[in-house]
Amino acid sequence: MGLRVPVQPKELFLSNLDDQVSRSSFLSHPLPRYKFPKEETDPTAAYQLVHDELLLDGNSRQNLATFCQTWVEPEIRKLMDECIDKNMIDKDEYPQTAEIEARCVRMLADLWNSPDAPNAQGCSTTGSSEAAMLGGLAMKTRWRKRVESSGRSLAKPNLVCGPVQICWHKFARYFDVELREIPCEGRRFGMSPEEVIRRCDEDTIGVVPTLGITHTLQYEPIKEISLALDDLEEELGIDVPIHVDAASGGFTAPFLHPSLGWDFRLPRVKSINTSGHKYGLAPLGCGWAIWREKQDLPEELIFRVKYLGGSMPTFALNFSRPGGQIVAQYYNFVRLGREGYAKITQGCAEVGQWFADQLKKESLFDLIYDGRHGIPGCTWTLKRGENPGFTLYDLADRLRVKGWQVPAYPMPANRADMVVQRMVARLGVTRDLAGLLLEDLQKAIKHFKHNPAAKSLSRQSAGGYHHN
Ligand SMILES: Cc1ncc(COP(=O)(O)O)c(C=O)c1O
Repeated sequence: MGLRVPVQPKELFLSNLDDQVSRSSFLSHPLPRYKFPKEETDPTAAYQLVHDELLLDGNSRQNLATFCQTWVEPEIRKLMDECIDKNMIDKDEYPQTAEIEARCVRMLADLWNSPDAPNAQGCSTTGSSEAAMLGGLAMKTRWRKRVESSGRSLAKPNLVCGPVQICWHKFARYFDVELREIPCEGRRFGMSPEEVIRRCDEDTIGVVPTLGITHTLQYEPIKEISLALDDLEEELGIDVPIHVDAASGGFTAPFLHPSLGWDFRLPRVKSINTSGHKYGLAPLGCGWAIWREKQDLPEELIFRVKYLGGSMPTFALNFSRPGGQIVAQYYNFVRLGREGYAKITQGCAEVGQWFADQLKKESLFDLIYDGRHGIPGCTWTLKRGENPGFTLYDLADRLRVKGWQVPAYPMPANRADMVVQRMVARLGVTRDLAGLLLEDLQKAIKHFKHNPAAKSLSRQSAGGYHHN
């Protein structure tokens, strides 16, 4: 049984707690798992028991697989607490929260060089997945209207992308769109302009490059793809829009790579999604979708809700949704500004690059991404021909013993033969913490040198979640 912060003399607190827990009769019984409990339980005891169960969860700060925020300032906790009752959908009841959301939309449009940021169209979402669905739906609707007005019969729409995060597979399946995913080839792990053009036709609703490929952290060449699509339009009259999946990159590129052409500076980029809860530094449950101009977000996708008072426009897959994350996002914008975000992302990038440089010194590894021109972090594989007595699955498993989550996973088609490991450097992954991970990694390598894995783990047996 874990202890609570002893605000009272320890013995008194313990006896109170013992009393509450024993009175609740939960002490000698497991928590309910299948049946709805008959009786009520004292809140302190119930809290303690649930709290204790959560001790078995992993330590999020040691999770180097996730891009999501695992460290927040105390002020964010305060604001989240103050906003616990605020429902994002109820803009009549919480007009200031709605105003804060609108401000964030305009600020992001400004950050991404929108031609008309003060009148930007956009919304908050629960994360990049929902924002991607909305971006995809807008593209599909614009395509349908185009086909209807041309008198062509509606064929199956398609979407061209590189090795995307699973949210785009979901979008394609849920909304009946053919996904034309460009496979990897050799050391090319993302899309290339030539491969994009080969797959586009008049039923292409859009091209989705990723600013920070989930598997490797590298940016896809958005400007080059945009230029190639300009040529396609000139030659064949096919006008294909771009939606950028900037789940992580939306908050790294503006600060780390400000001259990179990927955003609304490219006229072909009609919409962008990002995760506020990744490098946006908001708590979990915050994403954004922003459109270039009013006409890029079809009016028929916007519902007007009347029963909450007034007439509320909404474009979302959810209805009720917590407002705290949006308020915390605004707090970050105010608190950090461009200066603060630049400092934090630069610090993260330096940690990722340092880790990559250390791995380079280990003769066993081949760096796939060295942390320099993409998302902070690095990705590596075992050198070909090396037989170090372990696989990356074994190594990931060994690191789990010390609480680290640095999962190994295969690359997507056509490089599923290559297993990689990735560490994401985000706020809270300090140089010191990265150093401790490196020490454990070196110890693990030594361990395998003396005790080679008799039967190496497979992806299934190694387990692990790699945010793909
Ligand atoms: C490129 C990319 N797109 C979309 C997502 C999904 O984001 P979310 O978890 O915010 O829904 C991720 C998550 O890692 C991602 O890396």
